[in-house]
Amino acid sequence: MAPEPKKLHSGPARRATLLERLTSLFQPILMYTVVFTNGFIPALISQLHNLFNPSKLPLVFSPSAWRDAILKDGMPVILREGDKLAKDYKQHIVGRYASGKVFELGAGSGETLQYYDVNKISSLYLIEPFEELLPSLFASIKSRGPGFESKTKVVPVYVENRGALSDMGVQQGTFDTVVLVQVLCSIRDPGAHLAYLQSLLKPGGQLLIFEHVASKNSLTLLFQRLINPVWSYLARGCRLDRHSADVILQLGGWSHSEILRPEEEHDGALFPRAAARFVKA
Ligand SMILES: C[S@@+](CC[C@H](N)C(=O)[O-])C[C@H]1O[C@@H](n2cnc3c(N)ncnc32)[C@H](O)[C@@H]1O
Repeated sequence: MAPEPKKLHSGPARRATLLERLTSLFQPILMYTVVFTNGFIPALISQLHNLFNPSKLPLVFSPSAWRDAILKDGMPVILREGDKLAKDYKQHIVGRYASGKVFELGAGSGETLQYYDVNKISSLYLIEPFEELLPSLFASIKSRGPGFESKTKVVPVYVENRGALSDMGVQQGTFDTVVLVQVLCSIRDPGAHLAYLQSLLKPGGQLLIFEHVASKNSLTLLFQRLINPVWSYLARGCRLDRHSADVILQLGGWSHSEILRPEEEHDGALFPRAAARFVKA
């Protein structure tokens, strides 16, 4: 018998037990261990090649080049593992509602593609600036078949680069759906882009998000802030303490909004998640 789908709710997170609080503290270590064990050997091989290439030799001595090289193979694995735990939530938000002309910011290695119903979508713009992830993204698109592939367009630029986005067909007031999955945590100044993302929507268009957000529990929020500097460096800018869903709501201009969280989640979670839908007035 298939397991019951995991549910979302709009109430506060239940109180964590001491054991749950303690085990939560190990989650970032566990996650980075998965990234490192999958990314280190390929990173080492690519850096050994750089050692014999004079133009790339400086990369061998650059900590951020090592970090990015490790993320190249490690990040798709952690995103895939994370996706397994969040399938029901993503299905509830993205699978159920994404339709028409869709804009997805920070598509990564393409973990969200499986939730789009090709019959409900007319076109899909996938924005992904991290070039190390593009091979995995193109492979994910291809694996979904020619019908899906013909509707997608990969736009390899940062959201900050409005000119390039516009040149590649991303125009304001033309999208039915904007999708943000675990991306507001990584953008340098997300508040500066929310109004732009809203402006891409037609009236009645919807912004769908599945994001890890700041905890509502002050002790957990303190831990999130303590861990942030190291986590943010290792995960290329990802921050744990952003109230992303609340900030979108406060932006205003929505005719309908719903912000949900996983029922199973407790208030000691360092990666509490918000699944939300906002409809533009
Ligand atoms: C944690 S990953 C999530 C990827 C994917 N959405 C998923 O859930 O599997 C965050 C993504 O946001 C992208 N990103 C970070 N800053 C960005 C920016 N300024 N503009 C566009 N994308 C950005 C990163 O390159 C990365 O692919």
